[in-house]
Parts: sequence; structure tokens; C-alpha cells
Amino acid sequence: MKYSALASTSLLLGTASVLAASADDWTRRSIYQVVTDRFALGNGSSPPCNTDNRAYCGGNWQGIISKLDYIQQMGFDAVWISPIVENIQGRTSEGEAYHGYWSQNINSLNSNFGSANDLKALAAALHARSMFLMVDVVVNHLVANPTNTSDISPETFDYSLLQPFGGQNAFHSQCFISDYTNQTNVEQCWLGDSGLPLLDIDTENSTIVDTMNTWIKDLVSEYSIDGLRIDTAKHIRQDFWPAFAANASVYTVGEVLIGDVTYAAPYTSVLGSVLDYPTYYGVYNAFTSGTSGNMSAIASLVTQAQDQYNHGTFYVGSFVENQDNPRIQSTVTDQSIVKNVMAWPFINDGIPILYYGQEQGYQGGNDPSNREALWLSGFDTENKPLLTHVTTLNAARKQAISANSSFLTTKAKFISQPDSSTLAISKPPMLTLLTNGGNSSSVKWSIPSSANLFSGSETVVDVLSCNTVTTASDGSLSVTASSGLPQVLMPASALSESGSLCKSSSRSKSGALSAKADGAGLLVVLAGMISGMTMAFA
Ligand SMILES: *[C@@H]1O[C@H](CO)[C@@H](O)[C@H](O)[C@H]1NC(C)=O
Ligand SMILES: *[C@@H]1O[C@H](CO)[C@@H](O)[C@H](O)[C@H]1NC(C)=O
Ligand SMILES: *[C@@H]1O[C@H](CO)[C@@H](O)[C@H](O)[C@H]1NC(C)=O
Ligand SMILES: *[C@@H]1O[C@H](CO)[C@@H](O)[C@H](O)[C@H]1NC(C)=O
Ligand SMILES: *[C@@H]1O[C@H](CO)[C@@H](O)[C@H](O)[C@H]1NC(C)=O
Ligand SMILES: *[C@@H]1O[C@H](CO)[C@@H](O)[C@H](O)[C@H]1NC(C)=O
Ligand SMILES: *[C@@H]1O[C@H](CO)[C@@H](O)[C@H](O)[C@H]1NC(C)=O
Ligand SMILES: *[C@@H]1O[C@H](CO)[C@@H](O)[C@H](O)[C@H]1NC(C)=O
Repeated sequence: MKYSALASTSLLLGTASVLAASADDWTRRSIYQVVTDRFALGNGSSPPCNTDNRAYCGGNWQGIISKLDYIQQMGFDAVWISPIVENIQGRTSEGEAYHGYWSQNINSLNSNFGSANDLKALAAALHARSMFLMVDVVVNHLVANPTNTSDISPETFDYSLLQPFGGQNAFHSQCFISDYTNQTNVEQCWLGDSGLPLLDIDTENSTIVDTMNTWIKDLVSEYSIDGLRIDTAKHIRQDFWPAFAANASVYTVGEVLIGDVTYAAPYTSVLGSVLDYPTYYGVYNAFTSGTSGNMSAIASLVTQAQDQYNHGTFYVGSFVENQDNPRIQSTVTDQSIVKNVMAWPFINDGIPILYYGQEQGYQGGNDPSNREALWLSGFDTENKPLLTHVTTLNAARKQAISANSSFLTTKAKFISQPDSSTLAISKPPMLTLLTNGGNSSSVKWSIPSSANLFSGSETVVDVLSCNTVTTASDGSLSVTASSGLPQVLMPASALSESGSLCKSSSRSKSGALSAKADGAGLLVVLAGMISGMTMAFA
């Protein structure tokens, strides 16, 4: 691979603390995404943070270091942080650059988040725990506050602030994107508006291309970065990306914000992969409109992506919330539905990403409401059912990876179901049953013996509730649920004694209920019993 030359050079020179992480290295991990300004403060203080103010609230890299136990104890082994470089200062028409997406000088760090030593300490603290660091980077634009908002003609910007270029000839001529069906317009015109123009870097200029490639190579090496999330990837010509990704020499996942698989697909050949927006939209729509949500649209989108993406969907970033989209609970608060949606990234082909705060039940709507300060939750780990849920989902995925060496390279398959409010997703040794029916629904899944998932009379465990069920003599399975909860089933034989999942279930008899080791898991079981959840076999 192209990575090896750099990796071995670094080893010889003794400069790199870890080898460059490839897409394959990332597939067995799961990512916790933070908005650096909103996650934690290094000094442990807990200032108020009104998201509507669109202002810095005080989170920083030392804060992330101080809360790595919190992240790691949920089972995450990678952290995606906000862009790190110096941003436009002061207040713009859209507030302050607390999110980090308004780069001004790519050769300098955002001092609101800490010093170079703090960032290096974060990388070192992660690596000491065998965790990866993913850094968000913006290549498409730089931002200058117009000196006169009624006059944003190109000559009025102070280009000396926009480093390392410093001149107007580094940018495409000014035009705001007006036609998303015209790719040249998308790539060469500007994002933003007259209130806050995002100056579109001329990535057709070979001097600038070289500068960007050298910059990313140095950045990855300087801060021991293991992976990059690439902002606004579709706003730069596709053939810019291969040399950039090669110089980065780590896994790169591009933001290609689009619902269309065919549009996103080519970016999976020029970058490590993409954030799987098409499936995200399918999942969001299917689970936030009651039973009229289209569950088969999810299957259709995933199958298209598996067919059209380079490496199928194995390398995609799989998510259901992020800093740009409303949180699930801003639309739907039924906890059964929320748990179904949250299961999605963990039972599917891609690399799971959880957006900070979902585990605490945060409900913020559109930007800026969805960027709540996590410290206001007190980092509570005791009374948060969704935190328990995601911890179990992480453990289930890890268990599936260790139980079947093909898990990470076998495409998820949909087993057709009679009830349109359900999905059955097979990824051996995991079978996931989802429904958008909600907490008072009664639904049934039928898994035929032809699915070849289980043997006859085999004990199968729902690792979310620790309920067990036994297959029929031909290996078929019929499962009902009256509380609309998701189920992640695995053969009892695939649950190791050393694993954390349903410790005693692998030895329990069919139909027996067994409590999880932790109290919150027990509550899930009890809730299931109280609401009349039943599991039966055909
Ligand atoms: C904690 O850090 C924040 C942000 O750097 C600072 O504003 C605040 O004064 C500090 N609080 C204490 C108690 O040191
Ligand atoms: C701002 O721009 C407007 C429109 O060109 C102009 O009329 C005005 O005088 C400018 N204000 C300043 C302070 O330069
Ligand atoms: C390309 O970018 C460099 C660096 O900003 C600049 O000096 C040069 O004039 C640009 N070339 C063209 C043709 O715009
Ligand atoms: C597409 O956009 C570019 C850049 O704005 C423009 O020059 C070109 O005329 C547009 N093409 C069409 C067919 O509209
Ligand atoms: C890295 O970037 C340099 C500078 O643009 C370029 O010449 C080189 O081809 C790139 N490396 C790879 C492997 O693409
Ligand atoms: C649901 O999605 C499928 C696949 O995209 C589509 O064929 C079907 O028409 C959709 N159903 C409804 C009711 O919109
Ligand atoms: C179902 O969810 C709704 C919406 O959150 C809630 O009001 C209701 O109490 C829940 N019912 C049960 C039985 O949990
Ligand atoms: C492992 O996964 C492969 C591919 O899906 C499947 O054929 C095989 O039966 C699985 N083995 C076990 C023990 O689940």
C-alpha cells in the first residue's frame, strides 16, 4: 500500500507514535463525535451555554482529555473533534466561530481550544488508550468578515488575514452558489451569503494544490492524527482529492451532503469514503413519521450504496445525528423509536458514529440548537438509558466482530418482512429487528430457515434485553414485540464468557429471562416485561 513507505520512514525516524491508520483499521472502531467547544472544559468548570447565542462556551482539548473515561467506557475507540485551525475572530452576522468551520489561517491553531501542546497531549492520551483521533478539516474555503456588510465586493476583504495565501488571486471569482444541478457552480462559486461570505479557494491552481497537500501531510504528522473528516467535499473537484488523501496517508471520510447515492458514489473512489448521508436521510424519514415512514426505502438506499460505492458501504461513516442536522428527539421522543434509530449505525456495514449528547437524551433541533453543552448533563452515567443502550450496542458490535471474522466484510442483507413497519437485517452472527411502530405497537418478524442464520433448536439472545428465544427445528425464527423496541439477536454460542453481554444468557434455557450485569440493563428487561413484550418461536 501507498501508506507503508511513510509509515516505515516515520518508524525509522522515530517520529510517529502510531502507524498511519487505514480505512481497514477504522472499520473495527466506533467514533464519538464532539463539538470541541461544547464537550468539556479542561478545568472542570460548568459555565452556562445558551446555544442561541452562537458564541464560544469554553470547551477545549484539555476538556476532552479529562473526559476520555466517559467516552471509552461507552465502548468508543475513536474521537472526532471539531476543526482545529485558527478561525475568524469576533462576532459575525452568524455569531462566533465556536464550531471551527470558519478557517482563517490554516497554519495556526484555534487558541480557544488550547495550545499545540494540548492538542498533542490529546493525541497522546487517546493513543495511550489505543483510541484514534479524527480531525475535521476544511479545504474548500477561508472566511473573512466583510469590513462593510453593504459592500462585499472582492476587493473589500482584508486578504492578509487569509493565510497562507494572503491575496485575492488565491480565490475563485465571487459568485454565490445558485444552481446545485451545475457542478461547476457548486465547486467554483461560494458558500455563504453577503452577510458571511465563505471565500472559495481556487483549488484549480496547482500552486494552491501543492500547498494544501503539503499542509495536510504536515498536519497529520505534527499532531499524530489517525483519520480525517473532510468538510464540504463535494464543493471541490473530485480529481483534487486523491493526491490530498495520499498525502494525508490516513483514512479520510468526506462530507458529501446529498440524499442521492449515485451523486455520492464517485467520492468513495477519490477519498477513503463518505459520510453516508443518503442512508441517514432514509433512516431519519422512516423513523420520524410514525408508521407511514418508509422502511423499505432504507433497504433500497443501503442496497444501492452497497452496489455503487467503492468498497461497498464498509468504509462509510454511519450516523443518525450530527452538528448540522436536528437531533432525533427534536422530532420524536418515543424512546422505543429513539432506540431503534440509535441502533442503526452499529448493526450495519459502516463505521458507527455517535454525535455527543445523544446518549444523554439531548433534543436540540436545527443548528444552533443541536450543539448543547455536554457538561450541563453532569456527564451522568447512572440514570441514562440511552447511554446504557449505546454501550450495549458498542459491545454487541465488538462481540460480532470477534465471533465471526467475516462480520466486517459481509454485506448487511435485508430479509423481506410482511409487516411494512419492520426491518430484519442480517449480518452474521447478528440479526437485527427494527420497527417504527412505537412503544404501543405490536409487530412480528419472520425469519425463514432459508436465511441460513441459525441452526435448528438453537438458543438466540437479544443482547439489548437479554431475552432468549429458541429457533424451530428447521432454524426458522418468529419474534414478536409489543413495545416497539429494537432487538439485536445473536446465537448464544457467539457470546463469549469473557464478553460483557448478557453474561448468564449463553447458558440459560430458551424463553428464560436473564438480567444483565448492570442495573440499567435490568431496567430495560423489566420495562419490556411491564409493557408486555413477548418473544415466541414458530
Ligand atoms: C475555566 O476555564 C474557562 C475557559 O478557559 C475560564 O473562562 C474559567 O475562568 C475557568 N474557571 C476556573 C474556575 O478556573
Ligand atoms: C459601505 O458600503 C456602502 C455601499 O457601497 C457605502 O455606501 C458605504 O459608504 C460604505 N460604508 C463605509 C463605512 O465605508
Ligand atoms: C495561484 O496561487 C498562487 C498562490 O496564491 C498565486 O500566487 C498565483 O497568482 C495563482 N495563479 C493564478 C493563475 O491565479
Ligand atoms: C455552471 O456554472 C458556472 C459557474 O457559475 C457557469 O460559468 C456556467 O455557465 C454554468 N453552466 C450552465 C450550463 O449553466
Ligand atoms: C502529494 O502532494 C504533492 C504536492 O502536491 C504531489 O506532488 C504528490 O503527487 C502527492 N502525493 C501523492 C502520493 O499523490
Ligand atoms: C418506499 O420506498 C421504496 C423504495 O425507495 C419505493 O419504491 C416506494 O414507492 C416507497 N413507498 C412509499 C409509500 O412512498
Ligand atoms: C410512548 O411514547 C410517548 C412519546 O414519548 C410517551 O408519551 C408515552 O408515555 C410512551 N408510552 C409508554 C407506554 O412508554
Ligand atoms: C460468519 O459469517 C459468514 C458470512 O456471512 C457466514 O457465512 C458464516 O455462517 C458465519 N459464521 C458464523 C459462525 O456465524
